Formats: sequence, structure tokens, C-alpha cells
Amino acid sequence: MEEEKMREKAIVVGVNINHQHDFHYSMQELKNLARACHLEVVGELTQSLSKFHKAHYIGTGKINEATQLIQQLDAEVVIFNDELTGSQIRNLEKELNSKVIDRTMLILDIFAERAKTNEAQAQVEMANLQYMLPRIAGQRESLGRQGGGVGLINRGSGETKLELDRRKIEEKITALKKELDGMITKRETLRNSRKKSGIPLVSLVGYTNAGKSTILNALLKKSNHSDHKQVFEKDMLFATLDTSVRKIKLPNCQPFLLSDTVGFVDKLPHHLVKAFRSTLEEAAAADVLIHVVDYSSSNFQKQIEVTNQTLKEMGIENIPTIYAFNKADLADAEYPAVRGNRVYLSAKQNLGLNELVEKINQQIFKTPIHCEMLIPFDHGRLISYLNENANVLSTRYEYNGTLLSLECNSNDFEKYKQYII
Ligand code: GTP
Repeated sequence: MEEEKMREKAIVVGVNINHQHDFHYSMQELKNLARACHLEVVGELTQSLSKFHKAHYIGTGKINEATQLIQQLDAEVVIFNDELTGSQIRNLEKELNSKVIDRTMLILDIFAERAKTNEAQAQVEMANLQYMLPRIAGQRESLGRQGGGVGLINRGSGETKLELDRRKIEEKITALKKELDGMITKRETLRNSRKKSGIPLVSLVGYTNAGKSTILNALLKKSNHSDHKQVFEKDMLFATLDTSVRKIKLPNCQPFLLSDTVGFVDKLPHHLVKAFRSTLEEAAAADVLIHVVDYSSSNFQKQIEVTNQTLKEMGIENIPTIYAFNKADLADAEYPAVRGNRVYLSAKQNLGLNELVEKINQQIFKTPIHCEMLIPFDHGRLISYLNENANVLSTRYEYNGTLLSLECNSNDFEKYKQYII
């Protein structure tokens, strides 16, 4: 369990522009993001406006109200539901005499804490710098204060970064871009070699906290992988920041690769959308998507929409999709159950995973090819390959080689045609 850190008290502030119907939901999500950043939300303030106030985001009257609330509740931090400009941050800090944070900073901070590989860390750092660049003048004071607080922005190396001037930040961005290009090329090479292997790729996508990592781990367990290879899974937003690809081999199912992807969230800062595109390229190359939905959430419909919209914006379309309605144990639903392209399951209770695998199998190997191959005795490697990657139904040793009766995909069928009898 994550050690509970000393929590700073915060109030959340949001402006509802033209009566958006999902405003309440986005405020709720802001509170969840704050909690994930180890902040304790003690109060909330909202205002309906036709447009944001240019200088303060909220109207001047609301500033007095906010000041009173801060004093009343003894809050140290004020969190705003949208991305603020440098001057808005500066003005608000002056007026409210508190630390000011916006939604983007929260998300960046969560990403910074959860990034595990070098590539993810570099991507978060770049998104951070891109966010800071236009705000450098306004944020010096704010960032300085944050150094000793919850660590928002520049966790770990805050002081040195504060000294960076605009030019240095730009240089750093250029260097990071170069570094990332190298990493992306390496990843592409890996992806290509995977493609050549002909093993289908299945990608888990979905809203943050829906249970993607739990499903991946449950399938890995079935597939008899050791525990240390399991991906990090926790009741925290964005627990997954790196795409992890694992091979799944289950009885009665031909092997496939399964990749986990970063969880989606509404209003994902656009620098991050861009920065994390590469981790979603795994999903773009997938043969099948498993869209994991937290069926117990009262907002599951909205979360499906956000995920689909984000995928679309990234050009990930027209891939056969299975909807995994997870956490059915917490919802009022019959499970395990399959309806059309929907599987109702509880990954935590290990119920419904067989149904999910069957669905995956149906999708990938819509028409597995049944054939018999006679493999010469000196081709032992090919026999191991087929045992690993095809569904071998029987093995017989003949005088001139090993006779396999098997089901395989069209790729392998084409590749090893000469052995077919
Ligand atoms: P991100 O990495 O943030 O995108 O999250 P994720 O989609 O990978 O979610 P994860 O698997 O980390 O699960 C989030 C939380 O939900 C964890 O506390 C899980 O134990 C819990 N969880 C996952 N599946 C189920 C389920 O079927 N039932 C219940 N009750 N809890 C579940």
C-alpha cells in the first residue's frame, strides 16, 4: 500500500462556461486527480460564466469568496479546473495569497510520479517543459513555493530547473526531442520484428483506473508467467505510464501479444496527448482492441466517450473492438456474461476472463487454418516454433519426420506451406 503522505489542504475552483452538462463530472474528476496528488480536498467553489475572466479566470466577486473560504477551511492550495495562463497564476497567487495549481499541473505531476521507463520519464519531462515555457515569467514565484510542498512540477530537481531561463528550456526541449526520437526508432524496430513474427497484437485501452493492468496480470497468471513480470497495478490514477507488451499463451487459444496502455482522462493536456502518442502506437498497430470499462462507475458512459474520442483524435480507428465491462462485482449486473462484442466480468475475482479470452480468440483467429505438416527431423526449431505459436492438436513420429496436426494463422500457413501434406 502506498504510504500516506502528509496532505496539504486544498480547495477546488471551477468555472462552468455556458452550462456544460458534464461540468459536475469534471469537478469530481478534478478532486480525484487532487487526491492522487496527495492533496486533501476540503472545499469547492464554482461559478457560471459565459467566458473565463481574462485576468483571474474567475470573476472578481468570486475572488473574495475564495479568500474567505481559504481562511475558513485553513487551505494552503487552490486548484483550478482548467489550464491557467502565466498571468492568471500570478494574479491569483497575489489575490488569494495561496499556492495556485491548475488541472494540467496536477496531471503532469501524476504522470511524473508514475513514469517508470526512461522513455516515459523523458516524455513527461518534455511535456512539463513545454507547459512551463510560456509561463516562465509568471511561474517563478509559484514554482519556488512548490519546491517545498507537494512537489508539483519538477519533483526532485525543482531548484535547478527554476534557474533555467527560457533559452535553456528550449535547448533542453530540443535535446529531449532528439533523445526521444532515438527511443521511438528503437521501439519501431521492435514493433516491426514483432510484426514479422506474425503473432497477433491485442491492446488494452480505456479510461484510467478501469482495470486494464488487472486484466493483463490476470491473463499473465493464467499464462503462467512469474509474478515479477506483472505490471504495476494499483488503485491510483494512471498507474500505467508505459506500454508493456507480454506474450499470452493459453490452452485452446493460439498465442497473442497483449499490450497495456496509459489510461485516458478528460481534458488530457495537449502536450501530454502528443507526448504519449508513441505509447499508444502499440494500440494503433493492434489487431484487436480491448476497451476496458469501469462498469461500476456512474460515469462509465462518459468515460467510454472520452476514450473513443481520444483514440479517434490519434487516428486509431476501425480496429475490431471488444468491450470489457469490468468491475461487474461492484455494479448491479449479471456476470460473467457475453452480449455481442461486450464481455461482463470481474478481473479482480477472476470471473469472466475465460469468456474474454474466447472472444479474443474468435476475433483474431476468425478462421484458423487446420492442416497437417510433416517436419523433417533436423528441423527441430520449427517444431518448437509451432508448438509455441500454433494450436498443435496431435504429434506423431513417422519414419521421415514429425507429423503435426495443427491449427495455425494464415501467416504461418503461407510461410510453411512446403511442409503441408
Ligand atoms: P491506469 O494505469 O490508471 O490506466 O489504471 P488501470 O486501468 O490499469 O487500472 P488497474 O488495473 O490498476 O485497476 C485499478 C483499481 O481497480 C485497482 O485497485 C484494482 O484492484 C481495481 N479493480 C480492477 N478490476 C476490478 C474488478 O473487477 N473489481 C473490483 N472491485 N476492483 C477491480
